[in-house]
Amino acid sequence: MTMQSISINSAEQVVRPPQDGLPFLRANRASEFTTEAGALSANDGLISAFEADSAAAVQIDASGCAVIPGFVDCHTHLPFAGWRADEYNLKVTGASYEQIAQAGGGIKSSAISLEAASDDEVIAQAEALATEMLEHGTTTFETKSGYGMSVEGELRALGLAARLGESVVQQIASTALLAHALPSDYDVDGWMAEVALMAAQVAEEKSATALDIYVESVAFDNQQLRRMGELAQEHGFDLRAHVEQFNSNRSVPVALEVGARSVDHLACLHPDDLKSLADSDCAAVLLPGAELLGDEEVAPGRALADAGAITVIATDANPGTSPIVSMPLIIGLAVRRYRWTALEALVAATLNPAWLLRCSDTTGSLEVGKRADLVVLDGPIENIAYRFGHNPVAVVIAGGEVVHVRADWKERISGER
Ligand code: NIG
Ligand code: FE
Repeated sequence: MTMQSISINSAEQVVRPPQDGLPFLRANRASEFTTEAGALSANDGLISAFEADSAAAVQIDASGCAVIPGFVDCHTHLPFAGWRADEYNLKVTGASYEQIAQAGGGIKSSAISLEAASDDEVIAQAEALATEMLEHGTTTFETKSGYGMSVEGELRALGLAARLGESVVQQIASTALLAHALPSDYDVDGWMAEVALMAAQVAEEKSATALDIYVESVAFDNQQLRRMGELAQEHGFDLRAHVEQFNSNRSVPVALEVGARSVDHLACLHPDDLKSLADSDCAAVLLPGAELLGDEEVAPGRALADAGAITVIATDANPGTSPIVSMPLIIGLAVRRYRWTALEALVAATLNPAWLLRCSDTTGSLEVGKRADLVVLDGPIENIAYRFGHNPVAVVIAGGEVVHVRADWKERISGER
């Protein structure tokens, strides 16, 4: 790919961290990000200066607008097959997630769809979603297995995620969600024995960098969470865990004990676990789209931010609980429902998830020498949440390439090929 030299000029806000080289920023320091007016230039795929470059091949007029890092969506369930709109109908008219799962819906129904779909069909659906994500400013995202529900199925899902990574514009990080729902032909111990074998194989093949588990009444418990943590340590994976989504299972202390890199959902976080999580180096990943569409509790986002947690937000893009791919929408929800500032939401959507995915040394914030993964918004950062439902993303640059220009912005950009 040929890199373009790019100059983004006359921006009203350029969102920058308080200093270079921060791996993450705890939420109680988000206000230290600066939003001064200015310019940014990029060369050879990297951010080169915070000034205009009149010799650059591509010139972008960002007057009245903000320049921010590309969003890092660190919790998605791509690639999956099909959707589950019928369940949403049941859900809004009163059925619970547990009831739907027990009636054969939920994760199992997506597992059946995945098995029935050809590789090409799965990739085509995921590529279309990745394009939609790009148009909403996401330049890095996570993939998960978890709808495989058999050894072959899980390994196939990881292979499909790798194939997706080859074909999309974004950088991806692959997570092996090896314990999502119990396959019907196993008991828990039998499946965890398979998980141990798969973890060794996945480590060998390097087809994922993290292990994940779903702890819930309809899924696995804290004992298996501990076991997954041991497997992660044994094979050098990060541990991530879906916890406290519909019930408070007190999984957070267990996750912290086994060195989890993130705990995700937390709608039902037990109040006694908040401080130890906030004090730890484990990210608190909140998924406000799943909370809204699943009519879940609202995670204690304000309290976690005030306590100085490494707060993160993500789409949780999946066919069940959150068929959402737009990070601007997620920011809008987080600002309103957690009572976060625009900067608190932005650090949770850029630098902190980049740290979680172990790429904050190269992306996630605007710093000279980092990848030019950039978004030009069509207004100030406060508008992302305020104009809820509007897509504020005007231009997307990934790795120094202009990869998306919104139709009404064509005249603001010159020299683009
Ligand atoms: O993050 N909670 C477990 N996993 C997904 C939902 C999966 C599904 O319902 O398909 C989640 O919400
Ligand atoms: Fe999830």
